[in-house]
Amino acid sequence: MRYTLLTTTTLLLLLLLLPGGTTSLLFKPTFPFISLFSSSSSSSITPDPFRPPPQPLPTTPSPPTTKEEEEEEYKYFIEPGTSESLTHYDARFFASVLPLGPLRTQALHSLIKSYLLTLTSLQVPTWLAHGTLLGWFWNGRIMPWDWDLDVQLSSSSLSQLSLSHNYTFWTLDGNMTREGEEGGRYLFDINPFYDRERGEGVNVIDARWVDTLTGLFVDITGVKERDETEGDGEGGEGKGVWSCKNWHRYHTREIWPLRETVFEGVKARVPWDFERVLAAEYGVKALVGMEWEGHRWDKGMKEWVRIPEPEETQMEKEWS
Ligand SMILES: *[C@@H]1O[C@H](CO)[C@@H](O)[C@H](O)[C@H]1NC(C)=O
Ligand SMILES: *[C@@H]1O[C@H](CO)[C@@H](O)[C@H](O)[C@H]1NC(C)=O
Repeated sequence: MRYTLLTTTTLLLLLLLLPGGTTSLLFKPTFPFISLFSSSSSSSITPDPFRPPPQPLPTTPSPPTTKEEEEEEYKYFIEPGTSESLTHYDARFFASVLPLGPLRTQALHSLIKSYLLTLTSLQVPTWLAHGTLLGWFWNGRIMPWDWDLDVQLSSSSLSQLSLSHNYTFWTLDGNMTREGEEGGRYLFDINPFYDRERGEGVNVIDARWVDTLTGLFVDITGVKERDETEGDGEGGEGKGVWSCKNWHRYHTREIWPLRETVFEGVKARVPWDFERVLAAEYGVKALVGMEWEGHRWDKGMKEWVRIPEPEETQMEKEWS
């Protein structure tokens, strides 16, 4: 494993933070979400029975064999622009940038809720990843400054879904509609290049769950045990190491068995060793730091609260 973000100091910190392994921590009230969720009956964190999924189905399309086939690859998911704010929208459904505030918060909430409910109804295991997992870690919610949402599933689940549910539209309560039908709000779209190796990196997102009203989306990536021989050699390390196309690597034991939990009020799953996954990606500081992106953690409310701009800055603004 390449934990490039971890320095010796942070590793030591991590060891201090995780006495006797990560599971013991779960039963101490050190994590904000434990007390938040303990009042709700559906919120207890328990391992779920899913084991690492089987190898990809035999029906998985075979990777390209000739140079010409390889060259056919083009970027599948298109965003309306390359600026920081525009890369969070799907060009097909983009109307305008939603500023940070209740409308965007509501849109993101419904987005992840609809995705999680749908995959639960399809009985396909999926789990929170990256910034979305970090938001869950703190209070089971999307961080107020977050733009998009990230989830993962196994590449074999993705293969199954590509055969049965690609390009389907869903309403929030989980009912499927056909394209153009009244009520279709969320699109589940699987990248035709999902099963290829990284290549130029234009198709590292394997699938998207898109809000057809706002264009905001959930990025979906598949993880599998990649051979060393595959792709550019940066691939995986074979058995026991799962990776996405963008070189995020996980040991089997870090992900499975998945833990059942609650995110944004709905049933969700997270990797077994979520602390290690998060510390590897963001550093231990992301699990203990109380101030990020102009927000401060409010211990009482268990929420990220926007730090008001200093009065001087306000005055300067008024004078300018
Ligand atoms: C979704 O399906 C359920 C069960 O079949 C049904 O009761 C409900 O009315 C449907 N909702 C919509 C919006 O079609
Ligand atoms: C999913 O459907 C869309 C729309 O038909 C298509 O462009 C895309 O190639 C499909 N993806 C897969 C994996 O078949």
